[in-house]
Amino acid sequence: MTRAEFVDHVGRLFATRGSDLYGGEAVTQLEHALQAADLARTAGAPPAEIVAALLHDVGHLLHHLGDDCADRGIDARHEARGVRFLAKRLPPAVTEPVRLHVAAKRYLCAAEPGYLAALSPASVQSLAIQGGPMNESERTEFERHPHFVAAVALRRRDDAAKVPGLVTPPFAAFRPVLEECLAPPA
Ligand SMILES: [Fe+2]
Repeated sequence: MTRAEFVDHVGRLFATRGSDLYGGEAVTQLEHALQAADLARTAGAPPAEIVAALLHDVGHLLHHLGDDCADRGIDARHEARGVRFLAKRLPPAVTEPVRLHVAAKRYLCAAEPGYLAALSPASVQSLAIQGGPMNESERTEFERHPHFVAAVALRRRDDAAKVPGLVTPPFAAFRPVLEECLAPPA
């Protein structure tokens, strides 16, 4: 699969599944992805962080458990599904923050006063089935991870990317940065 074909494939995933609601939020998967990516872009984040923000929830587009699965107590493990897909072509600078973005929520709930209280109701609900706030030793270990800073930055963009009706650049605007991050075909 060439770079362009991989990007087309991702584009088709968003075209076919991007209108699914983002969990219990008032935005779609596509709106959420574009808002997160645009937050990274406007913050001047490096290309890998922009792509991680764009694709952090691609795992939700790869399962058919329903956008209400957290309501039914099911953890879709979307971060692991997403990484399995993305790791075929994208480097750890993209895939590691994606893999860690749920852990980063558990981290921030434990490390940052007020973070848990500011989470959306849907995020609080999924937190419970994702393991709840980290304990002290989990926090210490997480802070030592080489992609800790990028994972926390992605988490903050994820949390902020839930604004109904916000205008963002379209998916096509992020094609060049996605192609830039892709490894050549094996
Ligand atoms: Fe997300």
